[in-house]
Amino acid sequence: MKTILITGGAGFIGSHLVRHWVQKYPETKVVNLDKLTYAGNLENLKDVEHLPNYVFEKGDIIDASLISGLFEKYNFDGVIHLAAESHVDRSISSPLDFIKTNIVGTANLLNVARDAWKERATGDVRFYHVSTDEVYGSLGATGLFSETTPYSPRSPYSASKASSDHLVRAYHHTYGLPVVISNCSNNYGGYQFPEKLIPLIIHNIRNNKPLPVYGKGENVRDWLYVGDHVQAIDIIFHKGTIGETYNVGGNNEKQNIEIVRLLCRIADRKLGREEGSAERLITFVKDRAGHDLRYAIDSSKLQHELGWKPSVTFEQGMELTVDWYLNNGEWLSRVTSGDYQSYYEQMYSGR
Ligand code: NAD
Ligand code: TYD
Repeated sequence: MKTILITGGAGFIGSHLVRHWVQKYPETKVVNLDKLTYAGNLENLKDVEHLPNYVFEKGDIIDASLISGLFEKYNFDGVIHLAAESHVDRSISSPLDFIKTNIVGTANLLNVARDAWKERATGDVRFYHVSTDEVYGSLGATGLFSETTPYSPRSPYSASKASSDHLVRAYHHTYGLPVVISNCSNNYGGYQFPEKLIPLIIHNIRNNKPLPVYGKGENVRDWLYVGDHVQAIDIIFHKGTIGETYNVGGNNEKQNIEIVRLLCRIADRKLGREEGSAERLITFVKDRAGHDLRYAIDSSKLQHELGWKPSVTFEQGMELTVDWYLNNGEWLSRVTSGDYQSYYEQMYSGR
């Protein structure tokens, strides 16, 4: 039986990945290591936690003795590393948390893996680092990010992810660690913490709260349904060439205001409310500091070399996503209970 370590498996993308892996590969043991920050929630995995090939370990990736203990205990054949601080707005208010987890934590995992895998053949093991398109910086009105676009991160979040990508490549070139990296565009779907645009807007529509749109809402993101990212991770983990990077994107460029208006229309219809009622909640607020204008991905390398393509259209994905949040109101209420407040609520309440 093979054993893989998935870090950050209780978060948004990680929980979709763990669910996919434990069901599709019953002969593989999946160890989910997660610190359970505000963004990690074991409730996201309730439906698969009973499976015999699933194990949860609570812990912090910056803890070297914990990580080496886990490598000794499980003798991992692979690592898929997703654990990270992931929200740009939080990186603006608390940058050091991002440096610690995203940079030091990744370095720590690499270091332990290098040591633990010294005697293993290169083809036997693999360290897969899941990263973001934000490392490439911000595009003007035209052009796409390719795997050779120079890195130009502009927020503490993207700078910390860029640093981690560089460390992963350095461990490959210097020590021969068998690594593979992917850089993906914005994901959306169920189980995403409602501080990110799409779940936040649905949550606020449901509760008749203002829908904060930063600046003029003209910033563009390239949206990918989370299930299609999970499929890409599966393909890259199994078929990707060691040392290579693959860009993953949905070819769905949308301005933020388009997304918000579409969510308003879908939610009004599904909630049986009068058309146009959600749109009245749209509130243009002060822009994010250093707000990147446009991200857009060229995923042709992954499509041509490894045969991946997105399977869910943007329209289908948005319908599925609104349905998920409206049908999982209790999940939304629980993860937003306690002292959670959105970035803008915190700013306005002076917290
Ligand atoms: P998320 O914030 O929903 O989940 C992150 C998970 O990591 C949480 O479960 C959290 O508890 C855990 N974690 C945080 N710090 C930890 C630590 N120090 N030790 C152990 N666990 C820790 O994030 P996500 O949106 O699921 O993103 C997962 C990965 O994918 C990240 O590396 C992110 O950079 C990358 N990514 C995300 C997107 C996106 O649109 N969400 C796009 C491209 C790449
Ligand atoms: P977000 O979901 O935070 O992802 P990222 O910053 O990693 O792309 O934000 C997506 C876009 O939506 C981004 O341009 C910022 C914008 N945004 C708003 O306009 N209002 C909001 O309340 C949030 C959270 C984001």
